[in-house]
Amino acid sequence: MPSSPNPGREKITTSILAAKKKNGKPITMLTAYDYATSMVLDRAGIDCILVGDSLGMVVLGYENTLSVTMEDMLHHCRAVARGARYAHRIGDMPFMSYQASRTDAVRNAGRFLQEAGMDAVKLEGGREVVGAVEGIVAAGIPVMGHLGLTPQSLHKLGGWKVQGRSAEDARKLVEDAHLLESAGCYAVILEAIPDRLAEFIARRLRIPVIGIGAGAGCDGQALVSNDMLGTFERFTPKFARKYADVGAVMEKAFRAFIADVGARRFPDPEHAYPMGDREYTSLLRDLRARTARRRKAL
Ligand code: KIV
Repeated sequence: MPSSPNPGREKITTSILAAKKKNGKPITMLTAYDYATSMVLDRAGIDCILVGDSLGMVVLGYENTLSVTMEDMLHHCRAVARGARYAHRIGDMPFMSYQASRTDAVRNAGRFLQEAGMDAVKLEGGREVVGAVEGIVAAGIPVMGHLGLTPQSLHKLGGWKVQGRSAEDARKLVEDAHLLESAGCYAVILEAIPDRLAEFIARRLRIPVIGIGAGAGCDGQALVSNDMLGTFERFTPKFARKYADVGAVMEKAFRAFIADVGARRFPDPEHAYPMGDREYTSLLRDLRARTARRRKAL
């Protein structure tokens, strides 16, 4: 069941996101992969929840995002959809779910809405995905673009590197951003690019531009929740601010449980389910009688 109704809040739609850009109101986006986190994000008032394929790294423990499948994504999107009533829910299309053909792209995008309760999909890339974006948009599905450091192209990019630093790369990114807008994207994410380039793009596009590691000049900001909560330890990108050390809080709690059980301090009587004296005495009497009958029979 989605999070409880909040009469003061309205469901965030693509039109509301467009209006936020027009009115200069920053858009907020965080990732979630499960029901519990999605409920808390929704209650906190987040605009957009992205079920990112970062799932592969921060939840499933893969080296990178390339192993994530459609089934992984749909499974986690369903859980997130059950928790979020108001936030705009975006499902991230995994590697090879949209690259091979436009038909694949449309079919797989449709599954995010039809089977997993998402409001929109996101895919990575510029000019090379324009055909896929056009096909998905033509099917009535909102598409968010993703440019800059696109983790599904990790090997092509030569690692986790800031993009668009040279004038030539920057020009290509500006062109790609315009191409995605013309293809029908309702928003674009810019990841790990110089701040002045991101601001330049945000000013030129009519659609909202959401930054993650792209400086303060974007129309909104995104982070991977595990980075900002301190629950992903392998590395923390330079652009992530750690708002809490939930990993440390969890470890402290786990250690306390282990110590309490070891020292027989847990559980307390208040954690137990009581049984009435009458029932317990009757049970003992029955068992004793049964044992006596068995002995007699031997
Ligand atoms: O997968 C993800 O979490 C993302 C964000 C980094 C934008 O694509």
